[in-house]
Amino acid sequence: MAQKKKKIGILTGGGDCPGLNAVIRGITKAAVARHDVEVVGFMDGFLGMVERRYCDLTANNISGILTRGGTILGSTNKADPFACPQIVNENKVNEKISLVDQSDECVSLYNELNLDALICLGGDGTQSIAGKLARKGIRVIGVPKTIDKDVVGTDETFGFDSARFFVTEAIDRLHTTAESHKRVMVIEVMGRNAGWLALESGIAGGGDIILIPEIPYSIDSIIDAMKVRHECGKQFSIVVVSEGACAKGAEQIIQEDASCTGGQVRLGGIGNKVARAIEKQSGIECRVAVLGHLQRGGAPTPYDRLLATRFAVHAMQMVAEKQFDRVVALQSGHMGSVPIETVVGKQRQVPLDSELIEVAESVGVSFGRV
Ligand code: F6P
Repeated sequence: MAQKKKKIGILTGGGDCPGLNAVIRGITKAAVARHDVEVVGFMDGFLGMVERRYCDLTANNISGILTRGGTILGSTNKADPFACPQIVNENKVNEKISLVDQSDECVSLYNELNLDALICLGGDGTQSIAGKLARKGIRVIGVPKTIDKDVVGTDETFGFDSARFFVTEAIDRLHTTAESHKRVMVIEVMGRNAGWLALESGIAGGGDIILIPEIPYSIDSIIDAMKVRHECGKQFSIVVVSEGACAKGAEQIIQEDASCTGGQVRLGGIGNKVARAIEKQSGIECRVAVLGHLQRGGAPTPYDRLLATRFAVHAMQMVAEKQFDRVVALQSGHMGSVPIETVVGKQRQVPLDSELIEVAESVGVSFGRV
């Protein structure tokens, strides 16, 4: 009797980032050409599993997506199958939204489609859901994505290099206008609770002050650093602020709380707060640039295309070797993987003894240390 052809599913969860399409392409190409495996793509992350929205991915329909930003499968932050928002009372007056566990729908569809594995492209939130589905019998493989580079167990996540490239260019552009007007330019950068993006693009762009969540700052210390620059004849400064940074003893600035976002809090606003405080305390004119989702858009850099393709090929290798319930990882330049439960619920922040912090301070960067 002929053996059943293997089939896998792919989905993209959480916020998008450059390189997702490169992974979708890499998995599909390797699956079809090397492993003789069929591929199904679920739309809008786990929501597509709950709502039975999916499509076949073939060598034809993934053609040309290597260089495209975003995800052809769609994604959403509000798609936890263990907590799907549902109107429980149809009576319009007392309409109530309740969170309902619909994870069984995912398991049913997985079994119905005869899938051998589900590859989940996402950050911590997606991997946490994947881990819970693994406990219900779905064989999962995670691929770590995020511009924040905060997934534990891997040295890199795809999307980060593209964001770092964009932020560095933005800092370059702000330099010329800051210098012309003798102003302080504050640039707010994403990253959630990890300062990698602000730190690395801040160093690469020659930022003067870099504020990251890992190091509480004081405005006095920032102004002191500016005064030192003034004494050396530099009448402008570039302040790179990570969205999760906060002054010593203060709370992070939140745009939306978790009940509105359907998951994590949405950070944002610290750039403005820092600028106003510098102006008030020093009289130096400040302007703010919030890069927002521009950091997540656009085409992946060559590095991210390469990393995404390596992750994809390794994920398919893991399918072939039946290495399930693990997340693909890059460790000291080599492809490997870590158990999914070691990734879930954790965040990889910049270690305080990081060489990057030492490098930055050696070239005169201030972290606004208290
Ligand atoms: O995790 C990636 C990220 O871009 C964070 O840096 C940022 O805080 C968050 O997503 C914003 O997410 P969204 O606007 O999609 O809710």
